[in-house]
Amino acid sequence: MEHQIINKTILSILVILSFTLSSCFKDNEEDLYPDGGTCNTENVSFSQTIWPVINNNCVSCHSGAGANAGIRLGSYSEFVEAIDGGRLLGAIKHESGFSAMPQGGAQLNNCSISQIEAWIAQGKLNN
Ligand code: HEC
Repeated sequence: MEHQIINKTILSILVILSFTLSSCFKDNEEDLYPDGGTCNTENVSFSQTIWPVINNNCVSCHSGAGANAGIRLGSYSEFVEAIDGGRLLGAIKHESGFSAMPQGGAQLNNCSISQIEAWIAQGKLNN
């Protein structure tokens, strides 16, 4: 009898522990290392790396005639124009004095922001 109670207690502690631990590990992995522990900022490709992020997070509000704040991000040249306009990096980095983007959504992950900065430093190539 006593053994059973102790066993059940140990079991429930283990179950709770494993849930807590696994959720912690998941949080860390996804937030800090969205692509499995590395963030490749070498020779960043616009079409492979930058465009999917912008298309998924920004274009719905920033394309066509009704684009918010008059900022269009619907193509390579519009995206470059927005960067050259000087408001884009501050907005995605949530710097003070800028409207935080994507509006109403989670901030882009650190890796995506680093890759955008690296791509700019590498010459904003349409690659
Ligand atoms: C849900 C709609 C929505 C999404 C998604 C969105 N924006 Fe915006 N964006 C807005 C609105 C509305 C404004 C004008 C807000 C303001 O000026 O306060 C704006 C303003 C901006 C500005 C000007 C900011 C400033 O401070 O001058 C930039 C740059 C910008 N957005 C870039 C982006 C980028 C890059 C993304 C994707 C990472 C994005 N937006 C996603 C709605 C959106």
